[in-house]
Amino acid sequence: MNNFNFYSPTYFAFGRDAENQTGALVKRFCGSSAPDGSSAPDAAKVLIHYGGGSVVRSGLLDRVKASLDGEGIAHVELGGVKPNPRSGLVYEGIELARREGVNFVLALGGGSAIDSSKAIAAGAVYDGDFWDFYAGKPIEEALPVGTVLTIAAAGSEGSPDSVITNENGMFKRGASGDAIRPRFSVLNPALTQTLPPYQTACGITDILAHLYERYLTNTREVEVTDRLIEALMLTMIHEGPRVIENPDNYEARANIMWAGMMAHNNACGVGRSQDWNSHNIEHELSALYDCAHGAGLAVTMPAVFGYVMEHDVMRFAQVAVRVWGCAMDFAHPEVTARAGIAALRRFLKSIGMPETLGELGGKEEDIPRLVDVLCNGDGRPGSITGFVTLNEEDCANIYRRML
Ligand code: NZQ
Ligand code: ZN
Repeated sequence: MNNFNFYSPTYFAFGRDAENQTGALVKRFCGSSAPDGSSAPDAAKVLIHYGGGSVVRSGLLDRVKASLDGEGIAHVELGGVKPNPRSGLVYEGIELARREGVNFVLALGGGSAIDSSKAIAAGAVYDGDFWDFYAGKPIEEALPVGTVLTIAAAGSEGSPDSVITNENGMFKRGASGDAIRPRFSVLNPALTQTLPPYQTACGITDILAHLYERYLTNTREVEVTDRLIEALMLTMIHEGPRVIENPDNYEARANIMWAGMMAHNNACGVGRSQDWNSHNIEHELSALYDCAHGAGLAVTMPAVFGYVMEHDVMRFAQVAVRVWGCAMDFAHPEVTARAGIAALRRFLKSIGMPETLGELGGKEEDIPRLVDVLCNGDGRPGSITGFVTLNEEDCANIYRRML
């Protein structure tokens, strides 16, 4: 196992009606210490940031506002975050936050609303262009962020990451820093019951992807994190179909919601090298075609895994046996490895996920552009690195496998 530092201070309020605690949680965490030791001011003025309207329709926005009002906390709001959140609204949010003297950013929604909130929180206290953080500058300071989660998927509710699409070129990049880890996150599984089945399935796929990205490691002797990841994968395989069949299944939703957080706050990824090639390859798809991130991953993962399997056949055979229940072929472990990838593909199809680039709106003639932005964009060195290093030719081959 590799050396690591792990800092995960998010406070979670989990369960039915948990959103009614939001006002009290803002009050509690607005004045709490930041990772750099500084303290945020006590008197809160909150920017409530949300998406295209699901939180209005469900009544969540009104309930959260009532909770803030109950604590005497002032608030302004900015809706309109699109899935695959855009840089333009982040600039607008930064300006609003400065003008209104906001000192806490509260995200209502999924990964998109949360990531846009994190970008605003970092940008509001930074003199330069917030995009600097998405071009590689570490985030060291930010307004405190809290979240009320409405979809189990991205894991942003417990992660130090934010992913934004730059509208100037339509490419997606991530930024990271402990300062943007949410101070608190409210997780009420019942809030996810209004999700359309397709969006639920996209979330399940993203959670599985976060687990695979960590499972595909070059670090040896990582039994504890291997086993944690396997347990979370098995949970998703068990609960995913139950919730697709019955969207009102609160208990299945609850297990998925907590698994989604644990898959991505990195408790199961510490001390080991990680992959993230599938995510990098997918991010170009959701940036260009505006497809759901999870749907893009459903197409990307089997293509990537089949392509890189030879790098460590036994790792793919291990997940095939332990998670997908495949029989171990000791004479031909590559057969077992391949059976595991096929089982993943079947599972994703069974919950309604796409299998081809065409289903995402992609076209073969776009592949050179996708590869160029992926491998050379933002000063990248003509390749991407994770479980294996993939050059432009590899990435083009992988995109072609998705056709
Ligand atoms: O915008 P509204 O109206 O709220 O509708 C959303 C949106 O259309 C809808 N939705 C969410 N909760 C709902 C609901 N509809 C009905 N009932 C509910 N309870 O679902 C749609 C998708 O929402 P979004 O926030 O985009 O989903 P998700 O959580 O999958 O986030 C995806 C984004 O997260 C990034 C992705 O790249 C993508 O941009 N990621 C962020 C990560 C991080 N910060 O750590 C890691 C991930 O790997 C990922 O890259
Ligand atoms: Zn993801």
